[in-house]
Amino acid sequence: MTHSKPLMLAAALALMAVAAAAPPAAIAQDTPAPTEAAKPGDPGATPMSDQAVFEAFHGKAGIQRIAEAAIDRSVADPRIAEVFKGIDIAKLKTHLAQQLCYVLGGGCAYTGRDMASSHKDLGVNMAEMNALVENLQWAMDKEGVPFRAQNKLLAKLAPMKKDVVTR
Ligand code: HEM
Repeated sequence: MTHSKPLMLAAALALMAVAAAAPPAAIAQDTPAPTEAAKPGDPGATPMSDQAVFEAFHGKAGIQRIAEAAIDRSVADPRIAEVFKGIDIAKLKTHLAQQLCYVLGGGCAYTGRDMASSHKDLGVNMAEMNALVENLQWAMDKEGVPFRAQNKLLAKLAPMKKDVVTR
């Protein structure tokens, strides 16, 4: 495989944000506020069935590390830091880790909101979307996730762009 990273990025197009502030070896299952409890949001994609991909992410612990690293880098990224001002970062990390774990077939429950509801007031544009994808790729590289497995996840997240990018 000789795909270049920029090519991969272009191909994958879209993606995202967030991750978890909890126990290092497990995806936290937070308790939603009573009003949210009855209607957890749609995680935005169906789970993949290939367990080899989940394993390539080093399971729940690896996914947790990736979600946290991607968010930490995004919060400190001058291109998009402004979008995260005033946000509950711990909760965001938890929900991102849950979502990635769900999509990667790890059997996690997603307790956050759906992608359209949670991003509608953020005013995210395409350049900001790409910055977030780069930060996610950086986090996956750091975790040692092989390129092919990275792209499987990015392909699942890419269609969420329509709910995340609003301007
Ligand atoms: C496909 C791409 C993306 C995915 C999969 C994604 C995933 C998520 C998830 C799971 C949440 C938690 C929702 C909740 O807590 O109810 C969230 C919230 C958030 N995302 Fe994204 N995200 C994406 C793109 C982006 C981008 C591009 C940005 C900014 C550059 C961003 C910034 C945020 C912020 C600030 C929140 C917190 C909103 C709040 O708590 O009110 N996201 N995202």
